[in-house]
Amino acid sequence: MFVRNCWYVAGWDYDLPPGKVIARKIIGEPLALYRRQDGGVVAIEDRCCHRHAPLHLGEIEGDCIRCMYHGMKFDPSGRCVEVPGQDRVPPRAAVRSYPTVERDNWIWVWMGDAARADPELIPFSIGPGDPDWDMRPNSLLFNADYRLVIDNLLDFSHLTYVHRKTFGGDIFAYTKPEITRLERGMRIERWVRNVPALNFTQHIMQGRYDMHLDYSVLMPCVFVMRFKVFTAGTAVEGPSDGELLLDTWTCQSVVPVNAEQCVYYFSWGAPKAAGQETSNLLAKGIYQAFLEDKEMIEGQYANIKANPDARMIGIAHDAAVNQMRILMEHAIAAEKTGIAAE
Ligand code: FES
Ligand SMILES: [Fe+2]
Repeated sequence: MFVRNCWYVAGWDYDLPPGKVIARKIIGEPLALYRRQDGGVVAIEDRCCHRHAPLHLGEIEGDCIRCMYHGMKFDPSGRCVEVPGQDRVPPRAAVRSYPTVERDNWIWVWMGDAARADPELIPFSIGPGDPDWDMRPNSLLFNADYRLVIDNLLDFSHLTYVHRKTFGGDIFAYTKPEITRLERGMRIERWVRNVPALNFTQHIMQGRYDMHLDYSVLMPCVFVMRFKVFTAGTAVEGPSDGELLLDTWTCQSVVPVNAEQCVYYFSWGAPKAAGQETSNLLAKGIYQAFLEDKEMIEGQYANIKANPDARMIGIAHDAAVNQMRILMEHAIAAEKTGIAAE
């Protein structure tokens, strides 16, 4: 149920300060992460090759890490370079090492064939370190199959119901976006015209507005959206002719821990020039909204788990969800048969 040959987010860069070893589990595989002396991120199997003790309990020594059970030492490539009490290091003594890239304040780890780890495949995003955008990062653990969270992102009709207190707006359930299939995902775009502001902003925005939502969801699990708000204009199709009031980016990644859990990394922000208050409001709004998603999706997952063979009835709003599921199933099947997933 996982695509392997792709970059997964293992955390925000601030999750991994120098000198600290952290544990992560991605697609069911345990990882230990730490920084080399030059700051580069090392991701290795979190299971010592001696007696399988967790290496995240180890200690960093220069660029290496020492297992703190019986003291075997591993270099960043995962090769054992020292076994205390003996001169000879067994030739096969090694743990798996994973390619990493730090970009846009995310730590990316390649979980598949290391020879195919191409940083060009890392999706575009804007991180909290961006000089122009005041992006506010956060994360949440969902006790659910990660695919249900991706489904949720591909169908905004749920904004009307799940997010009635935070985002709201009947318009989302009663209109359809434009859906375009991409090579590695879906692009979804819609104009929403002459509507009240999102609920969580209505204390400062009381008029009527046009909004533009333009996002892509890329395999396995990256969502990037530009969301803009204009004064309500007169255009009935194409771009709004109202005045641009708010321009934002939100960058999100849903990372499967295993079949039953995922970590949701997300940020939302406005240009720094808009002032801190704007991004403060967005950060609060998105966190509240994702708690709403968490409750609904965890409940949905519990039902599915309790009765996995029960039939689901399709509706028109499932269009992008279904296409993305097919895309991912093809990629997973292609990896199993050894054909390139891209
Ligand atoms: S388990 Fe790591 S050195 Fe023994
Ligand atoms: Fe949602």
